[in-house]
Amino acid sequence: MTTPIDPTTTAAWQQLAGLHDGFDLDLRQAFADDPDRAERFTHTAGDLFVDLSKNLVDDTVLAALLALAEQVDLPARREAMFSGAKINVTEDRAVLHTALRDPAGEQVEVDGENVVPLVHEELDKMYAFARKVRSGDWVGVTGKRINTVVNIGIGGSDLGPVMVYEALKPYVQQGLSARFVSNIDPSDVYEKTADLDPETTLFIVASKTFTTLETLTNARLARTWLLDRLRHAGAIDEGDEAAGRAVALHFVAVSTALDKVAAFGIDPANAFGFWDWVGGRYSVDSVIGTSVAVAVGPDNFAEFLAGMHTIDVHFRTAESAQNVPLQMGLLNVWYNNFFGAATHAVLPYAQYLHRFPAYLQQLTMESNGKRVRYDGSPVTTETGEVFWGEPGTNGQHAFYQLIHQGTRLIPADFIAVATPARPLVDGEHDVHELFLANFFAQTKALAFGKTADEVRAEGTADAIVPARVFPGNRPTTSIMAPALTPSVVGQLIALYEHITFTEGVVWGIDSFDQWGVELGKQLAMQIAPAVSGDADALADQDPSTQSLVTYYREHRER
Ligand code: F6P
Repeated sequence: MTTPIDPTTTAAWQQLAGLHDGFDLDLRQAFADDPDRAERFTHTAGDLFVDLSKNLVDDTVLAALLALAEQVDLPARREAMFSGAKINVTEDRAVLHTALRDPAGEQVEVDGENVVPLVHEELDKMYAFARKVRSGDWVGVTGKRINTVVNIGIGGSDLGPVMVYEALKPYVQQGLSARFVSNIDPSDVYEKTADLDPETTLFIVASKTFTTLETLTNARLARTWLLDRLRHAGAIDEGDEAAGRAVALHFVAVSTALDKVAAFGIDPANAFGFWDWVGGRYSVDSVIGTSVAVAVGPDNFAEFLAGMHTIDVHFRTAESAQNVPLQMGLLNVWYNNFFGAATHAVLPYAQYLHRFPAYLQQLTMESNGKRVRYDGSPVTTETGEVFWGEPGTNGQHAFYQLIHQGTRLIPADFIAVATPARPLVDGEHDVHELFLANFFAQTKALAFGKTADEVRAEGTADAIVPARVFPGNRPTTSIMAPALTPSVVGQLIALYEHITFTEGVVWGIDSFDQWGVELGKQLAMQIAPAVSGDADALADQDPSTQSLVTYYREHRER
C-alpha cells in the first residue's frame, strides 16, 4: 500500500498558510481593481457555467491551490481511479462509477476483465424492462398495467434515485409515478402504500448488498401488503403458487448479490446486477436507477449518463486552470483547512432539485467524514465539512440570516437554470425571472454586503446601524445551466462526485469506504432483544441505554 502524501508538509500548503495569515482580500475591492475578475474566474464544464469569482481567492491563492493538487499527486490518483486501480484500499476494491457512464466501446479493466461491456449488458436489460413497464407490456397478476413503481432502498439505494426522479419530474411519463420507501419506521411504508392499488403497483427492491435491515424489512412488509391486499380483493387465492406468481410480477430487484435476491423469492430473471466497484452513494447511474429509468424512459436515462460522462471527461482532461471540479474541491479545502469553515451550503434555485442537498450529504459526508488516512494513519488536518441546504427562496426566509450576518464563514454554492420547466406568469411578471433575481441578489449581497455608511444614508438611526450592516465577503460559487435536462442533472452529480474526490485526495483518505456506519448497525442488532423484553439482553446494556429502553417498555401502547 502506498503512503498518502501529508498535504500539510507540502510547499503549497505552507504557502497557503502564509497567504491566509493576514489574508485581507475584499471582494468589493477585488472587483473594482479587476474589471475582468468575473470573466477570469468563470469556467464552463459541459453545460455548466460556473462563476467562482465571488470566492475569497486571487491568482496567487488559486495558483497555490493548484500546486497543492500537484504536490499531493492528484493527477496520478485521478488516473488510478479512472483506470480501475483498487484505490478503495480498506475494501480492496476498484472505484469505477465513471465506467458506469462510459460509452460502449471503451475499455476499463478490473482484474483483467473489461467492465464496460458488462455495464452495457445490464443497462440494456434494465432498459428492456423499463420499456415493458412503460408500454404496458408488463402487467401485474390480474393483467393490469403498472402505474406506480415503489423503490425500496436506503442510503445510496434511495437518495440518488429519489433525487433524480424529483429533478426530472417533468420527464416522467404520464400515468406513471414512482415512490420511495427507505426508513424502517413503519409509518414510511404504511404511508407510501396506503392509497396504492396492489394490482397496478410494482416494487423495486434496491440494495447493493441485499442484507440491509431497513430494506429487507420493508421489502417483506411490502410483500405482505401485496399478498394481503390481493387476497382480500379476491384477485388471487390463498395458495403458494398464486403468491409466487404475484411476487414474480410485482417485485424486481437490483443488487450485486443475486443469490440473496433469489433467496428472498424474487425471480433472478427479474433482477438487475452491478458490481462491488460501484459504491452505494455512487450508484444512481447503475441499475440502482431502475425506478428513474422506468419513470423517465431509457432515452432520458441514457442522456443522464451521457451528462455524467461529459463531466468525467472534463475532470480527467481539462487543464487545471479550467478544471471546475478540481478548483471547487480545492476551494473547499481552502475554506475548510485555512478558514476553519466547518459547513458548506448548497442552495439550488430550482424546486425540482429539492432533494439535491440531502443526496449530497451522503455523497460528501459518507465519503470524506474520515479521521484516518487510507494507510490507517491519523489524518493531519480537518476533513469532511458538513454539507447542507434547502432550495431558494425557501432558505432565504429561514437560515440565510446566519449566512449573511452570523459569525461563521459558510461557503455556499448557488445553482440555477436559465429556462424553467414550468414557466408561469403572474400578471406582467415572468415568475422565473423574479426567482432568479433572488439568486443573483443573494450572491451579490453575500459578496459585497452593505456598509455602515450605506445603511446610514438610508436614514437609519445610529443605534440601529450595526444591526443593519452586511459585512459581505461571504464566498459563493454560482452554477448555472441552460435547463434542468437529464444531461444537466447528470452533470451536476458528476461535478460533486469529483469535488468530493479532490478533497479526499488532498486529505489522503479513502473516500470510498464507510466503516463509520457499522457500529450503530451492530449495536442495534444487540439491543433489539432488550427492546423486545429480553431481561438478560437489557442487563448487558449501559445504564443510560437501560433507562431509555425501560422508558420505552413502560410507555409503549399496543
Ligand atoms: O449504511 C450505509 C450504507 O452501507 C450506504 O453506504 C449504502 O448506500 C446504504 O447503506 C445501503 O446499502 P445497500 O444498498 O447495500 O442496501
